[in-house]
Parts: sequence; C-alpha cells; structure tokens
Amino acid sequence: MGQKHWSSFHLQTKSLLWIIGITCALILACRYLELPYSNGIFSLLSTWKVPTLGSSTFHAIGPSPDDENVNKVKILNQPNSPVEHALEELRNPSEPNESLRFYDCDKSSVTESDKELGNVSATQQAGAENFTSRREDGSGRKIVSPLSSITKAISNITNAVLSHQDNKTNSVKEDSFRPPHNDGRTLHRNSKPKTNEASHILVPGVTTISEMNKLLLQSHASYRSERPRWFSAVDQELLQVRLEIQNAPIVKNDPNLYSPIYQNVSMFKRSYELMEETLKVYIYKEGDKPILHSPFLTGIYASEGWFMKLMEANKRFVTHDPNKANLFYLPFSSSSLVQALYVEGSHSHQNMIQFLHDYVKMIVAKHPFWNRTGGADHFLVACHDWAPEETKLNMAKCIRALCNADVKDGFVFGKDVSLPETHVRNELNPTRGLGGSLASQRKYLAFFAGRMHGYVRPILLQHWENKDSDMKIFAELPKSKGDMNYIHYMKNSKYCICAKGYEVNSPRVVDAIFHECVPVIISDNFVPPFLEVLNWESFTVIILEKDIPNLKSILLSIPKRRYLHLLMRVKKVQHHFLWHNKPIRYDLFHMILHSVWYNRVFSATYIDS
Ligand SMILES: *[C@@H]1O[C@H](CO)[C@@H](O)[C@H](O)[C@H]1NC(C)=O
Ligand SMILES: *[C@@H]1O[C@H](CO)[C@@H](O)[C@H](O)[C@H]1NC(C)=O
Ligand SMILES: *[C@@H]1O[C@H](CO)[C@@H](O)[C@H](O)[C@H]1NC(C)=O
Ligand SMILES: *[C@@H]1O[C@H](CO)[C@@H](O)[C@H](O)[C@H]1NC(C)=O
Ligand SMILES: *[C@@H]1O[C@H](CO)[C@@H](O)[C@H](O)[C@H]1NC(C)=O
Ligand SMILES: *[C@@H]1O[C@H](CO)[C@@H](O)[C@H](O)[C@H]1NC(C)=O
Ligand SMILES: *[C@@H]1O[C@H](CO)[C@@H](O)[C@H](O)[C@H]1NC(C)=O
Repeated sequence: MGQKHWSSFHLQTKSLLWIIGITCALILACRYLELPYSNGIFSLLSTWKVPTLGSSTFHAIGPSPDDENVNKVKILNQPNSPVEHALEELRNPSEPNESLRFYDCDKSSVTESDKELGNVSATQQAGAENFTSRREDGSGRKIVSPLSSITKAISNITNAVLSHQDNKTNSVKEDSFRPPHNDGRTLHRNSKPKTNEASHILVPGVTTISEMNKLLLQSHASYRSERPRWFSAVDQELLQVRLEIQNAPIVKNDPNLYSPIYQNVSMFKRSYELMEETLKVYIYKEGDKPILHSPFLTGIYASEGWFMKLMEANKRFVTHDPNKANLFYLPFSSSSLVQALYVEGSHSHQNMIQFLHDYVKMIVAKHPFWNRTGGADHFLVACHDWAPEETKLNMAKCIRALCNADVKDGFVFGKDVSLPETHVRNELNPTRGLGGSLASQRKYLAFFAGRMHGYVRPILLQHWENKDSDMKIFAELPKSKGDMNYIHYMKNSKYCICAKGYEVNSPRVVDAIFHECVPVIISDNFVPPFLEVLNWESFTVIILEKDIPNLKSILLSIPKRRYLHLLMRVKKVQHHFLWHNKPIRYDLFHMILHSVWYNRVFSATYIDS
C-alpha cells in the first residue's frame, strides 16, 4: 500500500518534472533560436518576424523595432516597467513647429545604460550578458530563423508561461504597437505618430554599454565578411594593416589624443595613420540628383550630407581606379530619398526600398566590384530614421553608417557604424558658437527640451517638469532666434539630458559636446557613435530608461571631481565631432571615415592569388 502510494506519488512527481523540463527546454530553445543567425542570411530572413504578443507588429518589410520574441525572453529574465504612452507635441527650443521645418532639430535622443551610474540589477545584467554573449557574431536580433514556425510555436508556449508569470504582459501588449515608422510625415524625422501609437514597449532587454563594448571586441576578433570571389591585392593589404593595428606601438602622450577617452589610443592612432597611408575610396558616379550626389548641409540629418559633400570633394582618399579601392561608397541621401519618394500618410517605405533595390541592381550589373564581396567592401552613410530598414535587405552586407544605431533595429556590431547626428545651424561656419560657460558658472544641474516624441520623454517630463528648480526639464522652450534659448541652457548646464525620441539617436548628444555640457544619455540600446574608438563611459553619463525617476539623485551622486573629469574629457573629445568646410585631421569627417575603415579592416578576408 505504502509502496503503491509512493510510486504513484513518484510518478506524479516525475511527470511534473518532465513537464517543467520540457517547458524550460522550449524556452531555452526559443531563446537560442533567434540568436545565431547571422550575417549572410539574415537580411533575407529578416522579413519573417514572429508576431508574438499582439497582432500589431508584423510589418512585411518593416524592421519593427523589437523582436518580440527577444523581448519576451527578456521579460523572463527581467520583468521591467512597461511604459507610458503619451506623446504630444513639444517643442524643441528652436523651432516653431514641426510643419514649418523640414529638418527639425528635434530628432529623438539617445542612449543606453550605464553600469557606473545606472543601477542595473544583478539579474538584469546577468541575463543580458548571457543573452548577448550568444550574439557575438553580431547578427541582428530580429532575425528569425527558417525554423520560424517552430519558434512561433515555442513563443506561444512562452507566452502562456509569461502571462502567468508576469502581470506586465498586459501592459506590454497594449504598448507594443509602434507606428510603422512614424509614417514619415516629413521628410525628416519622424513625424509625430497618431494618437496612441507612439508608445512602444519599454523593452525589458537592454544591452548595456559595457556589453556593447564586449560585443564589439568579440566581433572584431571573429566577425569576417564572406570570402571574396576572386583575388585582389587590396584584401591582403588590409590583413597586413590589421596585424599592424593589433601590434600598435604603445602611445604615451599624444598632444592630439587624450588617452582616457579612447578604447585603446594606441590602436586608434595606428589605425588612423594607416588609413591615411592606405585607404582608397571609389565613389560610384551613377545616379541622379537629388537622391544621389546631392548633400543637405543643415538640419538634423546633416551628417550624411556633410559626409557626402566632403567625401566627393576629397583628394586624398578618393580614387578613380576602382581596382585600387579598399572601399566603395554608395553616395545616396536617405533624407532626400524620403523627401522624393515617400507618399505622405502611406505608412509605406516600399518606394524607397524599391529605389535602393534598383540602384544596387544597376551597380551590380554594371560593375564587377559588388559581386566580388557581396557588397562587404561597400559602405553607405545615412542619417534618416528609416535608413536601417531601407537598407537592411539589399545592403545587408555593406558597412552601414547609421544615425539610427539601435541594437534592436538590426545594427551589426563590427560591421555597422554609429553615425553622429549633428544639427548644423550654420552651413558656412559649422563651428560658430562652439563652447560654453566655465564649470563654476554652470548654474543649472540638468537641462532638457524637446518634443514628446517616443515613450521616454513623457516619462522624463512626468517626473521632472516643474518639479525641481535644479532640473530644467521642458517640453517646450519659448521660441528664439537661432535656438538661443536652447543654446543658453546648453552652455549653462552641467548635464544635458539626451533622451531618445522615436529613435535612439538625438542631435542633443553632439549639441551637448559642442557646448561642453556633459551628455546624459537616456536611450536604451543606442550604440553611441564611434564606439570602435571612443570610451563613452569616460565622458558621458549613461542612464537606463528605467532609472529616470532617480535622475537627480544619480546626477547628484557624481562627485564634483568626477564631474570635472567628465567635463574636461568632453572638451577633449569635442574635435572629433566638428565639421569643417575643409576637413582637418581627426575631425568628424575623418572619424566617420575611420570607423568605416576600421570595421572593414577587421572584417576583411582574402583568398590566395
Ligand atoms: C505651426 O505654426 C504655424 C505658424 O506659426 C501655426 O499656424 C500652426 O498652427 C502651427 N502648427 C502646429 C501644429 O502647432
Ligand atoms: C541600486 O539598487 C540597489 C538595489 O536595488 C540599491 O540598494 C542601491 O541603493 C541602488 N544604487 C543606486 C546608486 O541607486
Ligand atoms: C549564463 O549561462 C551559463 C551557462 O549557460 C550559466 O552557467 C551561468 O550561470 C549564466 N549566467 C548567468 C549570470 O545567468
Ligand atoms: C499560436 O497560438 C495561436 C492562438 O493563440 C494559434 O492560432 C496559432 O496557430 C499558434 N501558433 C502555433 C505555431 O502553434
Ligand atoms: C498582478 O496584478 C494584480 C493587479 O494589478 C495583482 O493583484 C497581482 O498580485 C499581480 N500578480 C503578480 C503575480 O504580480
Ligand atoms: C592597446 O592595444 C595595444 C595593441 O594591441 C596593446 O598592446 C595594448 O595593451 C592595448 N592597451 C590597452 C590599454 O588595452
Ligand atoms: C553579379 O552577379 C549577378 C548575379 O549573381 C549577375 O546577374 C551580374 O551580372 C553580376 N555582375 C557582373 C558585373 O558580372
């Protein structure tokens, strides 16, 4: 009897364990599946998203911002505050309103999380760590394997598990719709989304800045483009260069390069010198203005235009002999593309995607170079919010310098480059107004002003607008000529809050550096510019979105001495973020080119002659 009882109990326990085991295995499998698909196939497969939490997110081609699967996995790890909704217009210091300005200085803002200051819980970090470590190949997260139906089934189960586990699931569901890209109601930026759509989940999974640094190192160690189809001496040259960079002589004191702000100043310096000696860029001449060869030099998307203008005019790096080129530049403007081809209100990016598709097709048919590497030695520089989506199919293997550098939007570490977003206010003299007050005269602790784009800013305002006299957090500043109000605050605040808008990047990061205000980046999963080279934690404060309620205490907890260091380093890094009509060493033009170069050098493969 007792024996019988025991075995039936035993049996029950066994089946219970069995069920638990299967569930765990499925969850793990789910976690695992979406990770390893990288490089080559990802673009093709990426159209397959697994719709998960809601019906809402399944754009045919859309890079919907988050792979909900991934999100879910992360929810398991780290239930997190889902967010608000909200949105309304606000104004950035300068302009009157959106409709007036094509190039609005208000793009969204920025960034990422910080260990130093952001308070990342141990489990969160651990979870994220394990999660990210599997992605070291740098593939985009949204990728779903050909096994997507299995994944789907698993995700159904995961859903069920989650809905029991996590109350937040509901709110996530409500929030998980994001406008199919802010329907591009203006060429520029994201226009403001309709009513409730702007909100979007506060994705629980966050790749912290230190994890990004790790991913980048891993990518440079292991990510290699496909083998070229035939021999070219330039590939071997790049391999030689890579060795030289890896064995760079140690730099002690370089007057131009203040070592604490770099990942590794010795490698950077050597790589930069080798770029000067070696790099040759071929620029495709095909294509009509205005989408090709026609730079915009003002407004918030100006960085793609400045790069294009300076690249096309460059003598040192440009070659007219494509056989000598290490890199091939595709000189299109992502903002002109939207301006020319986006159909207002259509919510469709198809025209732009088609245009780029035709362009690449023409290049592929006309020249042999694309085919040699599948585009791996080709690059583009695009600042519009939609560029990641528009280029993720046809130009998947290219090195993409993108303002919208979002870990969750297909950014590939080791291949893609985070392009600074610069709001150029004076085309003839882009450095006019550089600088700000001395540290002792900076009377405001923190400053932010901007429209309520995206889900983060409403939270920021909710906690800090009119709450505290040290915190100058505004939805809108009174209009002023040349953004003078905005600039006044930038020049007189210790910390400038760069909160993401619709997309991760914001011109505020560079504005703050320009005016010597320490950037406080609040934009989870934003890959900061030139991460290959710069140590962002040395000169900025990076705070997790979830820590917005603690913003003031976090800032106050930074000792004065540390603040002065941050400020001094902001000044030291400033020259890397300046445009010049005639480029100078280490300026923004050269830094963009360098990051493209660096990624090429570290991903190049070759075949024997
Ligand atoms: C934009 O500004 C114009 C003129 O300043 C004004 O007529 C219009 O109502 C404003 N639009 C919005 C949405 O504020
Ligand atoms: C970080 O979080 C822990 C526990 O959640 C808390 O004890 C600690 O005070 C926090 N640190 C800061 C700087 O907020
Ligand atoms: C990460 O995963 C490994 C094995 O997959 C496990 O041993 C380790 O505990 C995990 N780390 C964390 C922090 O979860
Ligand atoms: C997932 O669940 C939905 C209903 O909840 C069902 O319609 C769908 O077929 C399931 N998918 C798979 C792959 O099992
Ligand atoms: C779920 O939310 C309800 C109400 O918000 C709360 O009473 C309940 O305790 C929550 N359950 C869990 C598991 O958090
Ligand atoms: C920087 O890189 C060089 C060359 O690889 C290496 O010798 C040196 O140890 C690195 N320095 C630091 C601080 O990592
Ligand atoms: C490149 O390859 C494609 C197909 O793979 C082919 O159609 C095209 O003609 C090739 N281009 C050249 C210039 O050979």
